[in-house]
Amino acid sequence: MKCKKCGERASIKMPQHNMALCGDHFLAWVPEYTQRTIEKYRMFTREEKILVAVSGGKDSLALWDVLHRLGYQADGIYINLGIIDPQNDLAYSAKSKAFCSQFADQNGLQLHIVDIKEKYGETIAEINQRSAHGRQKPCAICGLVKRHIMNQIAHDKGYDVLATGHNLDDEAAALFGNTLNWTVEMLRHQSPLLPAVSGFVRKAKPLCRFYERETAAYALMRGISYVYEECPYAAGARSIQYKKLLNQLEKRSPGTKMNFYVHFLKAQKELFGEEQTAIPREEHCPVCGQPTLSGQACAFCRMTGAVKA
Ligand code: AMP
Ligand code: FES
Ligand code: ZN
Ligand code: ZN
Repeated sequence: MKCKKCGERASIKMPQHNMALCGDHFLAWVPEYTQRTIEKYRMFTREEKILVAVSGGKDSLALWDVLHRLGYQADGIYINLGIIDPQNDLAYSAKSKAFCSQFADQNGLQLHIVDIKEKYGETIAEINQRSAHGRQKPCAICGLVKRHIMNQIAHDKGYDVLATGHNLDDEAAALFGNTLNWTVEMLRHQSPLLPAVSGFVRKAKPLCRFYERETAAYALMRGISYVYEECPYAAGARSIQYKKLLNQLEKRSPGTKMNFYVHFLKAQKELFGEEQTAIPREEHCPVCGQPTLSGQACAFCRMTGAVKA
């Protein structure tokens, strides 16, 4: 297979685009295609301040790298959740943090680090242990903590938009789950761009049209060091099963994942109208000031013990 641009031997095939590219042209195409996604969904401009949520994994570090190459003003945020893999004693969060710091240092970029043990006195596992969900995996709590802190830092430090590294495989797996359960509200709000609404900052997913294998290839070819291991709590997660299923379909009919997601975005407009916003919440938490439904302390403040019962 030959590179579509120069005719040299291709390094990567992308049947969903009817295209194969050599290494150099792939490394040039990734920022171009990201830029087209940013424009298509009117995510942000070069005049705006972007906060990139980096996990130390390939997607979010690739995103930071691409935005930096494209000339955007992009700082990073890493949330240290204090996760340790009990199976092999791997300090997962510490390792992830080191990759984020290394990337920031190498590129002269600013990285904000929030350490939840330092700030709130407990790691994710400890919060989980204490809470009613004690015997379950901490993923739901972890998601809530991450969303809360990302929004708070972006808001308090005056960023215009929060960008995350979600790729098309992540989005297609989430869509698969939302469709299996027909969670209409989730389907309404699953979008590459969520405009700011009542205390929630604007949220963008500039890599949402890349397959996971493409973000991995990009990170490798750019020499970005990242954490290969999945979060130890991710094993057995539904989203991973959905990704496997979608990849089986993709193998039989290349382009299936892309069609599933991109056609959904078109159908979403017809079903729900043009603007996808976060679920508006008019009340504010008296402890942290973030939006809530009830006007009482928000779920995050109750869970982290900022509010004593
Ligand atoms: P996940 O929820 O783990 O699938 O990650 C989705 C996106 O959330 C990543 O691509 C990152 O942009 C962001 N993210 C995940 N974990 C962290 C973290 N510990 N700190 C900052 N951002 C994160
Ligand atoms: Fe939060 Fe795995 S990253 S539980
Ligand atoms: Zn080429
Ligand atoms: Zn609160």
